[in-house]
Amino acid sequence: MDKKVDIDWKTLGFDYIKTDLRFISHYKDGKWDEGQLTEDNMLHISEGSTALHYGQQCFEGLKAYRCKDGSINLFRPEENARRMMRSCRRLLMAEYPEDKFIEAVKKVVKANEHWIPPYGTGGSLYIRPFMIGVGDNVGVKPADEYIFSIFVTPVGAYFKGGLTPTNFVVSDYDRAAPVGTGAAKVGGNYAASLLAGKKAKERSFSDAIYLDPATHTKIEEVGAANFFGITKDGWFITPLSPSILPSITKYSLLWLAENRLGLQVREGDVYIDQLDQFAEAGACGTAAVISPIAGIQYGDDFHVFYSETEVGPLTRKLYDELVGIQYGDVEAPTGWIT
Ligand code: COI
Repeated sequence: MDKKVDIDWKTLGFDYIKTDLRFISHYKDGKWDEGQLTEDNMLHISEGSTALHYGQQCFEGLKAYRCKDGSINLFRPEENARRMMRSCRRLLMAEYPEDKFIEAVKKVVKANEHWIPPYGTGGSLYIRPFMIGVGDNVGVKPADEYIFSIFVTPVGAYFKGGLTPTNFVVSDYDRAAPVGTGAAKVGGNYAASLLAGKKAKERSFSDAIYLDPATHTKIEEVGAANFFGITKDGWFITPLSPSILPSITKYSLLWLAENRLGLQVREGDVYIDQLDQFAEAGACGTAAVISPIAGIQYGDDFHVFYSETEVGPLTRKLYDELVGIQYGDVEAPTGWIT
């Protein structure tokens, strides 16, 4: 803890900063080795690695938070471990066990403790576990060998505005197919979103919104985050679809909206031509936290929710509740904080 790093915590964005140690473990001959912490942030892998050619890779994102009393909180890490196992099953990769995942996360966070932004700065330590298929291959088949690794990097707001509402635009591109890999946290989904995201940003929007790939009538995702809307009559609604990534933040918000804010909650269809029902809307995810949506451009129509400049009252309450729990200022539901 006495090591110091030279960072202006208040101006942190969402960029890679090399920290001291990362965890790495290898899977070979049907089993994982013990894994170790290493200073080396370079991977030396076979040119035939399936991750390089056939996208056989997956990842996770979670955060460590510095609390007022100096302790460190992890938010629901077992949910990330389980989601990663589901991603591995979808891509026929070796699963990394939940208990070892959590142990490794704790190790990396502790080893880089001085990189955790101080309490009150709004920053956190982003934790990026990932797995890649490696080894000498060329055919389209699952690898026999894998690398599981976790690095950490200090971050601030993902979308530039933070809690200031920003605008999004509905994309013409699809991000994932109906029975494809949209629900798995795999790189291909994000590669498929790069062009749409670039085009959105060129038009000064924060990111692209994706509609359901089958009918293009329902909202699915907001960039790399999930969508939520709060209706004028007090319903918290998030889209439900097999091509959406099941966000841990979104499921936490569904619970908090119902149990702490007294809203009615529903996962279901959110039609792009029925945005009028919502008083407030936002994007949510580990990286995005809660990012209020000011307006959505859909073709020639621009729909404004609560306000183009102010965050809506219920969105703010949800934000305070979620972030309060993460930083240890608000009582957490049982099992949410490690
Ligand atoms: C996260 O919220 O952790 C994500 O995975 C988004 C990320 C791709 C930046």
